[in-house]
Amino acid sequence: MHIHRLEKIWIVVGITMLGVFLVVVGIGAFAMGMQPPGSHHEQHGGHTGAIDPDKLDETPPFDNPRLVQIGDNEYNAYMVGYAFGYSPDKMEIPVGATVHFQITSSDVVHGFQIPGTNVNMMVVPGEVNYLSHTFTEPGEYLILCNEYCGIGHEYMATTIIVS
Ligand code: CUA
Repeated sequence: MHIHRLEKIWIVVGITMLGVFLVVVGIGAFAMGMQPPGSHHEQHGGHTGAIDPDKLDETPPFDNPRLVQIGDNEYNAYMVGYAFGYSPDKMEIPVGATVHFQITSSDVVHGFQIPGTNVNMMVVPGEVNYLSHTFTEPGEYLILCNEYCGIGHEYMATTIIVS
């Protein structure tokens, strides 16, 4: 089949446009996928999508649960709930600190409640739940599990010390 020169040009232009379109869509999707959990509605809490609960020890940031200072008296707390405790198991922050909690579970569904505050969320394997709180009063705050998760449920707790 003979293809006219002009038709050839249009075919090339069409394929090029399609290629550019696919690259743009691909970059957009990739950029969204790379957005750190909680970067868009930190103040309200919520959850982000799939994470493999069996591979937390090789999935940053949950391979290394910790408290990280990210600003002037502002922290990210990367946490893992498990039967029957939380990691990291003890945190200390200054008065007035805002903490962005991000937590997932390595086994079953747990709870995450700080009595005396409005902090209350579920800890779900396969999901990252997040919620922010500003600790304006000094004290020792209990973080406890409020979802029945097994024989050690009532002992599942940790503390956050505000001073
Ligand atoms: Cu964990 Cu109840």
